Amino acid sequence: MVDTSSKKLISLSKSDSQPIHLQIYKRFKQAIESHLLKDGDRVPSTRTLSIELNVARGTVENAYSMLLGEGVFTSKGQAGTFVSTPYAFDKESKRSTPKNSSQGLSSVSPTQGPDLNTYSHIFLPGSPAYDAFPRKIWSRLGSNRMRSMSSIEMSHKDPLGYLPLRQSIATYLRLSRGVVCDPRQVFMTTGYQGGLDFLSKVLRLSGQEVWMEDPGYLFASTLLEDIGAKVIRVAVDNEGLIVSEGIKKSPQAKLAIVTPSHHSPLGMAMSWSRRTQLLDWAGSNDSWIIEDDYDGEYRYSGYPLPSLKSLDQYDRVIYAGTFSKTLFPSLKLGYIVLPQNLVDICTEKANIYQIGSSITSQLIVNDFIAEGHFSKHLNKMRALYSHRREITSHSLSEILGQEIAVNSHKNGMQLVVKIVSGHSDNDVTTAFNKLGYNIHALSNWTTDPNQNGLIIGFTNVANKKAADEAARKLKSCFAEI
Ligand SMILES: Cc1ncc(COP(=O)(O)O)c(C=O)c1O
Repeated sequence: MVDTSSKKLISLSKSDSQPIHLQIYKRFKQAIESHLLKDGDRVPSTRTLSIELNVARGTVENAYSMLLGEGVFTSKGQAGTFVSTPYAFDKESKRSTPKNSSQGLSSVSPTQGPDLNTYSHIFLPGSPAYDAFPRKIWSRLGSNRMRSMSSIEMSHKDPLGYLPLRQSIATYLRLSRGVVCDPRQVFMTTGYQGGLDFLSKVLRLSGQEVWMEDPGYLFASTLLEDIGAKVIRVAVDNEGLIVSEGIKKSPQAKLAIVTPSHHSPLGMAMSWSRRTQLLDWAGSNDSWIIEDDYDGEYRYSGYPLPSLKSLDQYDRVIYAGTFSKTLFPSLKLGYIVLPQNLVDICTEKANIYQIGSSITSQLIVNDFIAEGHFSKHLNKMRALYSHRREITSHSLSEILGQEIAVNSHKNGMQLVVKIVSGHSDNDVTTAFNKLGYNIHALSNWTTDPNQNGLIIGFTNVANKKAADEAARKLKSCFAEI
């Protein structure tokens, strides 16, 4: 165990306005960043640390839960709690350019996945790594559940979703995203798209103005336009949505949809001041905000950012999460966390619109979380994706350095590369996708004629060889058109 002289390592400040558990959490991260604590070091038990720091044990447990949830710590039962390997690996992968195709895969036990020699997944944006999904665990949980479903579960009709799962999600969000909610506010949905569809009916968005980021998530704007909402495109810059532009274009908009943790698709995080401006606007205008936190779990450098919802003193933010990125998209399982004043109306409407997913998926996902597989899986995926991001970005820069510039955001599941050679992103995408790949042209996600780029996923790039091969094919498309 590290001789923490924990007091020195974790010195707490009474004048610090942050809660004590957050101070402990941050001190540990700083100690790791500055190499006072290393990979594999054992940290004190919650009991010992609480005595040393003279704080309640629950306070230390809160901090440890956050660190465990993010993969900074790993628990080995009786043996204790340790600074975790995946986190250290994550740092390692940033230090050196990966050369060896097997590097980084060691932390994930490959399972029988689909054949990734088919091209279609290799650069597919926004998909989890299908070769790294823990199928054995999933199938064990699934068959247990199928065998033992009670008649109550078989006749389960709660349109809001399976209550134990909603409870697990409320706990998870409190620890990992700072969202304080009770399970009554959590509604299970058929993915993000299903949640948005439901909200568009409850909030009666047809004919109403809705701000959307420009560029912004293509499938949300398509849905809104289809139901007859007036989509107001609001430009983004390095700080995220330009709130003043939104106010100028549509001061009375009913709703704003944002991706503050990790802008979709460009990747930057919304700055503190823009978050405050947006919340103030919504608070003073009685407008709603949907925080689409589609991949906030995947951040490969720096500290996790607080969610917008955790800063919302006006209770105007609807937080939307999805298991499409953390588990797999065909599960079609997501959730929304409602402001208190929307709970009753949404409960009433959920009986009409039936927003939820199949109970069987909800039972399995709940077991997956309750048995600790979810946080382990996320930790592994953070390490794996950080590594695959490096491989992909390195191959693209090496092979297509003349044609493109790769963005530097170290988060999420996809890269946005800017085309610098003057080719049209639509032409390149069409040519490349004809070869069996599946990338997106940035210009289709925006009204800004200056945006010309490619949206490329890296999570299914198994190794450097695959990255190089796909990058070479992409290069040949630039040469052809
Ligand atoms: C910005 C954004 N939001 C949400 C989602 C998740 O959508 P769903 O839960 O409907 O699969 C995605 C998936 O690609 C996305 O890119």
